[in-house]
Amino acid sequence: SKSIRIRVSETYGRQGCRMKICVVGLGHVGIVNIAYLLERGHIVTGLDVSQERIRHLFAGEPEPEPRVSELLSSALRSGRLQLSTDYLKAVEEASVAIICVGTPQSEKDGIPNLSFLYQAVTSLIEIVKKKRDTLDVVLRSTVPPGTTRNIASGAFGNFGNVWYYPEFLREGSAIEDMNDPPIRIIGAPKTGYYQRVLDIYGETGPVYITEYEIAEMVKYVCNAFHAMKVTFTNEISNVCRYLGIDSNRVMEVVCSDNKLNMSKAYMRPGFAFGGSCLPKDLTALLRLSNGRQEPELPLLTNIIVSNDLHIRSTVRRVRSLAVRGTLGMLGLSFKPNTGDLRDSPFVKLGNMLISEGYHVIAYDPSVELGLLDVEPTYIQSDVRKMWQGQLTKSLKSLCECSLLLIAHPISSFRTPILPILKGKHVLDLCNDPLREQIAAIADYEGVGWECRSGCVRNVSLAKAEEALKNTSYS
Ligand SMILES: NC(=O)c1ccc[n+]([C@@H]2O[C@H](COP(=O)([O-])OP(=O)(O)OC[C@H]3O[C@@H](n4cnc5c(N)ncnc54)[C@H](O)[C@@H]3O)[C@@H](O)[C@H]2O)c1
Repeated sequence: SKSIRIRVSETYGRQGCRMKICVVGLGHVGIVNIAYLLERGHIVTGLDVSQERIRHLFAGEPEPEPRVSELLSSALRSGRLQLSTDYLKAVEEASVAIICVGTPQSEKDGIPNLSFLYQAVTSLIEIVKKKRDTLDVVLRSTVPPGTTRNIASGAFGNFGNVWYYPEFLREGSAIEDMNDPPIRIIGAPKTGYYQRVLDIYGETGPVYITEYEIAEMVKYVCNAFHAMKVTFTNEISNVCRYLGIDSNRVMEVVCSDNKLNMSKAYMRPGFAFGGSCLPKDLTALLRLSNGRQEPELPLLTNIIVSNDLHIRSTVRRVRSLAVRGTLGMLGLSFKPNTGDLRDSPFVKLGNMLISEGYHVIAYDPSVELGLLDVEPTYIQSDVRKMWQGQLTKSLKSLCECSLLLIAHPISSFRTPILPILKGKHVLDLCNDPLREQIAAIADYEGVGWECRSGCVRNVSLAKAEEALKNTSYS
């Protein structure tokens, strides 16, 4: 189920094959796709159900993206572009249909309205049934995970190959973004066949080939991430303005750090954050404007709320496993090899489990038992109270546990841990890099990920199908 990344040869796209292509849905995305495909030498028919849209395009009225109107007008004159509202005419000779119809959120509940997409798919299927054996389809509209598989599995009738190829263009720089997208990712059928999409688009950069649901999810995650970055920056700028600090300068310097800030750092699925700095300094930042009406900081405030929820949901997860006997935690400090218990999320988790009546022991050789006795002021008293009797230096006692929680990667311990996990029920909190090895010998679960091959597809599809069942398409 792993995605693969391929590098397409530099010259490939330039010599790409010419095809007859139908682009369905002539909004922003459809039009920019047409312009791009024309530039690569294809013959294109643009199809839209809106007479008004077709009239607008025939009339050569200006399009918002630079160069697009000129390209379309010249292709219309030369006959390399045709426009139509008639599915039969538009699709009859095409070897592939590229779907770019809108998937707006419904006003009632925000769920994506897929009715335009399903109408387009149904109309295409009718033509396939009547006039031809097969039709390849590339879906470019943004859709919830599971949608492409739904279409590809013949829920509406059988196409040829179906691919999901999400679009990452931004309005205003769409042509530039199509030529040089931030990500190229193709959700491919089970066979992994993707070459046709490269033939169509003549892509020259690295491309991820994945199952449909990963590609569908990546598109949503990117936009959610962008939205969060905008809101985060706006909240920071509000605090800065309140304190009379230049927010432009602050963000300029913050964004110049490619090691920890604008990087993969802290972005691996895992457990809640903790330690002596992140919770303390985030709280301090919130207190800078504490007690005043302005500025309101809902995103920053809810980071801590969400972090605590992550710990609480793990307690629920443990409860759902219905294990009896002792629970063993591998690691207690906030990160491996520090021995620092300050604001450790694993201490919080252990405390919650203990208050729920579980017997919990923790193995963490980097934590000095003696330190807890002396109780330096920075170690909270609840830590001392809860953990004094429960920190163990004996791996043997872990062997008797009914469930082992991996808080620190097992390779961070000096002693070999893998043999202890054999045959045990294991809940991985830290996304252990050795998870596949652990899963091979233990009954393994990750708090937010699956590790056995095939799991990703099955789990996301099941979830997506459930979501789709509850979706109204009108
Ligand atoms: N706008 C962007 O910058 C952008 C960027 C990336 C992805 N997307 C995604 O691409 C998709 C299209 O976005 P857009 O902004 O171009 O949408 P849009 O609403 O501007 O255009 C959609 C077009 O599809 C036509 N249409 C509707 N039903 C149809 C049918 N059954 N058959 C043929 N045509 C039909 C409509 O008449 C309209 O002209 C959406 O899923 C969107 O989320 C948009």
